[in-house]
Amino acid sequence: MTDDQIKTTLDKSERITIFAIESSCDDTSASVCVNGKILSNVISTQTIHKEYGGVVPELASRAHIKSIVPIVDQALIVANVELSSIDAFAFTQAPGLIGSLLVGAQFTKSMALALDKPVITVHHMQAHVLANLIPQHKPDFPFLCLTVSGGHTQIVLCEGPLQMKVIGHSLDDAAGEAFDKSAKLLGLPYPGGPLIDKYAEKGNPAKFKFPEPDIEGLNFSFSGLKTSILYFIQAEEKKNKNFVRENLYDICASIQWRIISILLNKLKKAAEQTSIKNICIAGGVSANRQLRKTFEQTGEKMYWKTFIPPLEYCTDNAAMIAIAAYYKYLAGDFADLTVSPSARAEW
Ligand code: KG4
Ligand code: ZN
Repeated sequence: MTDDQIKTTLDKSERITIFAIESSCDDTSASVCVNGKILSNVISTQTIHKEYGGVVPELASRAHIKSIVPIVDQALIVANVELSSIDAFAFTQAPGLIGSLLVGAQFTKSMALALDKPVITVHHMQAHVLANLIPQHKPDFPFLCLTVSGGHTQIVLCEGPLQMKVIGHSLDDAAGEAFDKSAKLLGLPYPGGPLIDKYAEKGNPAKFKFPEPDIEGLNFSFSGLKTSILYFIQAEEKKNKNFVRENLYDICASIQWRIISILLNKLKKAAEQTSIKNICIAGGVSANRQLRKTFEQTGEKMYWKTFIPPLEYCTDNAAMIAIAAYYKYLAGDFADLTVSPSARAEW
């Protein structure tokens, strides 16, 4: 179904208001969406994890508990919507950190129970894909989406808002992990992805060569890259103990270039195999400036129509949960109040 077809199935006077919460990892976010249009998307990113070099699950749950009430209030104020006008309450059900998911799930279910409204559960990775349906400029179906986040790397074939199939995935680390773990090896704090993005801008991507793994089909692997970076740094630091500090920009640019080439080479292969020309990217790593640029340049060469969500919808956010829930609402796909979150999820 196209977006227009879906809209004509709605009564013209019908106003569907969805309230959504995202709390799967270290961002607490709430959003209000009316008939597929995002009215608010308030995000609080936890900073406490920086000093630990990664997300500490127990600290993440506690931080969600602290921030969820003000974030929910703020999302309603920005959207200028009364709680009583909300038609359904949605939350990220999986995958993610179980303690973090529980905070969003319990809060959302309590609101729905108190207001006697339905609950909608959303799969976090499907929501990342559907973030591409938020802007005015959106892809027609079918489209392919390269979803690159901190926990997953997938190529998704999307035939409708609720008809998606993973046709390629990482066999080990996700692209976001490749960024974060490489950054850690360089002594940079968590999350390292945005820092590599920043330093790479000043570096030479051809200065150091890191290998591209030879993985069959549309799957990815990033763990070999991490090991080769580790051995490379160890060998160079034996010769010059200031090697990383003196070459930081070039190392970041070279690592980033390799991660991007691994991602886009597989995406090209997927486009070729499926003959699909509408191509999207999504997920936290799609905030990477060089990936966005190279993706668009590749698209021009390959005659693709390319789509990238605005930055606020790339990293974790509740707007993508709200848009996914809106399509589930139209399909009548509701959950009951006994539903619980899950750390892992079947697609
Ligand atoms: O989608 P996301 O916000 O959370 C998960 O669902 O995992 O993705 C987080 C990941 C982290 O690994 C982070 O380092 C990476 O996205 N990331 C970036 C950039 N911004 C966030 N990686 C590279 N360049 C960026 N600008
Ligand atoms: Zn995510």
